[in-house]
Amino acid sequence: MKAVVLEEFGGPEVLKLRDVETPEMGPEDILIRIAATALNRADLLERQGLYPPPPPKPRYQIPGLECSGTVVAKGDRVIHFALGDRVMALLPGGGYAEYAAVPEDMAWLVPESLSLIEAAAVPEVFLTAFDALWDKAQLMPQDGVLIHAAAGGVGSAAVQLAVAAGLRVAATVGTKEKQQFVSSLGAHCTINYREQDFAAEVQQWSKGQGVQAVIDFIGQSYLARNLQCLAAGGTLVIVGTLSGAEVPVNLSQLLGRRLTIRGTALRSRPRYEKMRLIQTFAQRTAADFNTGRLKPVIDRTFELSDAGLAHQVMASNQTIGKIVLIVEHP
Ligand SMILES: NC(=O)c1ccc[n+]([C@@H]2O[C@H](COP(=O)([O-])OP(=O)(O)OC[C@H]3O[C@@H](n4cnc5c(N)ncnc54)[C@H](OP(=O)(O)O)[C@@H]3O)[C@@H](O)[C@H]2O)c1
Repeated sequence: MKAVVLEEFGGPEVLKLRDVETPEMGPEDILIRIAATALNRADLLERQGLYPPPPPKPRYQIPGLECSGTVVAKGDRVIHFALGDRVMALLPGGGYAEYAAVPEDMAWLVPESLSLIEAAAVPEVFLTAFDALWDKAQLMPQDGVLIHAAAGGVGSAAVQLAVAAGLRVAATVGTKEKQQFVSSLGAHCTINYREQDFAAEVQQWSKGQGVQAVIDFIGQSYLARNLQCLAAGGTLVIVGTLSGAEVPVNLSQLLGRRLTIRGTALRSRPRYEKMRLIQTFAQRTAADFNTGRLKPVIDRTFELSDAGLAHQVMASNQTIGKIVLIVEHP
């Protein structure tokens, strides 16, 4: 099969298509003929040798944490899928390829209303956002939440999930165009962090109460203001550290207002935890995808052979939603 294999680490130019063997299947695996995969920030780090795949070491290091496609073979112990099923899947790597073999519990059916291209933009960002809002922050309808990088892949999924569940949503972005976009998703308060102090804006919007949770991807430069934004008992969920990871913390702020800081990462989690997350997510969101209340947001698509170009575009911070790599045209 054709796949983008990391034979060396470095800039986008190291992403080259190669001919490699089709992945071997275990008895609990399905073999997916991939229609599309999508980029994640982690792919940029993996390309530079800074984010190795979890063990066991794969035969070929192929980036790609998610895919959509069709089941073309299945192991003896597979019970939930039939040949020809349209699926999407969470992968430990290996998405930038024509085929992926995954345990069946890492895949789920594509809602009828979505195309396979759209479905490729769902797994990593929607699962991460779903887990951050409900499992990590334990939010309830009517709670207030501040979502950073809200026009990005994970951020735009989080805004949609939060709005659909009846939360009050404040969202930060870096441009006017992104502000309009997150408003169109239903965010109640949009903040251009380049022009406004987000902590002051959140205080004003929440009438001095603060929000029950902050979903953060920025880390270092936002920490002090994130804590200011939280209401008593609130939770800061660290999903990414785009501005850096090391920062001094004034722990007395955590005491007085009983605040919690939680971190999360999807890729390194045990299989049973991912399986539980996938099952809950698939059950609770299929209807909302079918009615259009939730929708994959695709900024643009590239051919798999143009993965390097796609990485350059993601690094530019200009995208709204996801970048999808088309592997097989419908
Ligand atoms: N923990 C996990 O399991 C997990 C899973 C998926 C992703 N992540 C992490 O979550 C983060 C977001 O991922 P994504 O897929 O949503 O990325 P994305 O679609 O590329 O969006 C990221 C956006 O963040 C904003 N940004 C970048 N650097 C910034 C900075 N220094 N300060 C403020 N804003 C900045 C930019 O938008 P503006 O124009 O609005 O600034 C950028 O477009 C990444 O760090 C990623 O590694 C973690």
